[in-house]
Amino acid sequence: MIEIKNVSKVFQKNWYALRDVSLKIEKGEFVFIIGPSGAGKSTLLRLIYMDILPDMGEVIVAGYSSNTIRRHEIPILRRKIGVIFQDFKLLKDKNVYENVAFALEVTGTPRRKIKELVLKALADVGISHKRNAFPYQLSGGEQQKVSIARALVREPFILLADEPTGNIDPEGSKEILELLKEINTKGTAVVMATHQVDLIKYFPRRVVKIEEGRIVEDTGVRP
Ligand SMILES: Nc1ncnc2c1ncn2[C@@H]1O[C@H](COP(=O)(O)OP(=O)(O)O)[C@@H](O)[C@H]1O
Ligand SMILES: [Mg+2]
Repeated sequence: MIEIKNVSKVFQKNWYALRDVSLKIEKGEFVFIIGPSGAGKSTLLRLIYMDILPDMGEVIVAGYSSNTIRRHEIPILRRKIGVIFQDFKLLKDKNVYENVAFALEVTGTPRRKIKELVLKALADVGISHKRNAFPYQLSGGEQQKVSIARALVREPFILLADEPTGNIDPEGSKEILELLKEINTKGTAVVMATHQVDLIKYFPRRVVKIEEGRIVEDTGVRP
């Protein structure tokens, strides 16, 4: 489903953020990407949702290759990839319902269908009771649930989470991890980048460790 073949990513001044990285992720897997700050975790996720393209090697996602994908095809691919971030990236002037609905409005989904899908996504992450609240009225954990609902509402085949618990207290972090587990159990692949290695013990799954742009350990699939 995702194949990363001998990928290098070089930023300015010949800085290798990733060097000769190869990795396969199958349908429905749960993978932790760990490693210290600056190791290349975010760069790896950005390559998967084709926010950036590799300088060497090839990234294949859902049949699209980084070598041949057309510019106009990238947004089409991204609709099927959910992405969540440490800083939530919610729209401050929209309430919870509107934030999630917006993800469907931009794809031209009919209004009645939007309502049905948004209410379901909010219920799935357990945040329905806050649907009229604005982001500033929510805790970090609640904001992350909204961003997860926004990612899920398009029914992605994979959810990419870049340090999703980085701005959340330990109790809230466990809740978010539980939610990601549940989402994975329902069939969506989850790739979670984190430098918080202690989180892994709550959910022992495949761990890929990156250091200085290279994969230094891959436990393989752990069911
Ligand atoms: N847009 C960029 N321009 C220049 N250097 C970058 C850019 N993005 C990342 N880097 C560098 O690449 C390395 C890996 O970054 P990143 O993937 O963000 O690491 P991580 O997410 O593991 O903390 C770091 O040294 C970082 O400074
Ligand atoms: Mg990062």
